[in-house]
Amino acid sequence: MSGKTDYATYLRIDALLDLQRPLSEGAHDEMLFIVVHQVYELWFKLILSELDAAAAALEAGRPDAAMAPMRRGVAVEELLIQQLRVLETMSPDGFMRFRDPLAPASGFQSTQFREIEALSGGGDGRHLRDQGRTDLQRAQLSARLQERSLYSALATAMRYSGVDFPSGDDPADRERRLVALGSLYRDHDEPARSVLHQLCELFVDHDETIARWRHHHALMAAREIGSRSGTGGSLGVAYLQSTINVRFFPELWEVRNRL
Ligand code: HEM
Repeated sequence: MSGKTDYATYLRIDALLDLQRPLSEGAHDEMLFIVVHQVYELWFKLILSELDAAAAALEAGRPDAAMAPMRRGVAVEELLIQQLRVLETMSPDGFMRFRDPLAPASGFQSTQFREIEALSGGGDGRHLRDQGRTDLQRAQLSARLQERSLYSALATAMRYSGVDFPSGDDPADRERRLVALGSLYRDHDEPARSVLHQLCELFVDHDETIARWRHHHALMAAREIGSRSGTGGSLGVAYLQSTINVRFFPELWEVRNRL
């Protein structure tokens, strides 16, 4: 049976294509800049929906059902890195033609990016005070910071499967988790352990892909603005370089030393 809609109506194409509003006249590259940022926000929306689905499956003790959404999330993150190449077709003088009027707007203020960090366990509330957020966005980020993280959802799934994986912050809990991870990484032939091991590796994929994005984004920024400060008011590339070593799941990197 066919429905009653059509392409433009279903996808709200007129509304979508009405959203690109350059601020500067005659700056050819501003359309590129706006479209790339908007596309990023759409992909961020999908990543959040996939990571949410993965966390919900883990919390329900269904690690098998968390694999597909984690895989899709990581596949989109790979695209986010490739998309930087499109921005790099813009020469620095092309960017300077429209950069000043858009300040202090900056990707630094992207609430969805901060939500991805928060869900991955990397948020600390600092960004709640950032300028440039609407009340609704601040409320969304605040809710994210209070809800479970992906790693705590993984811990729940581990316990469902009988793995000794406490959630606490103290060193003894951390050590028990590392012992459990070491054992899982050495021995994962049995199907239930194999699923948990693959999930841990998908978490590492997620962590690594975001870190590679941070690195490439810093290089791209250096290409576009040299050592100028950012439109968001930070030191610019020096600030971005300071974030490259951020890791969401340090224990999944630490376990490598225990094998
Ligand atoms: C010409 C293109 C771009 C340049 C020169 C650039 C530059 C910068 C700079 C200098 C910062 C540091 C904050 C500041 O002071 O503004 C920053 C942060 C950020 N930008 Fe970009 N950016 C560009 C494109 C993008 C795009 C397309 C995205 C996708 C949404 C993006 C996302 C981010 C995010 C998420 C941060 C925060 C990073 C963090 O705090 O770890 N940027 N950007």
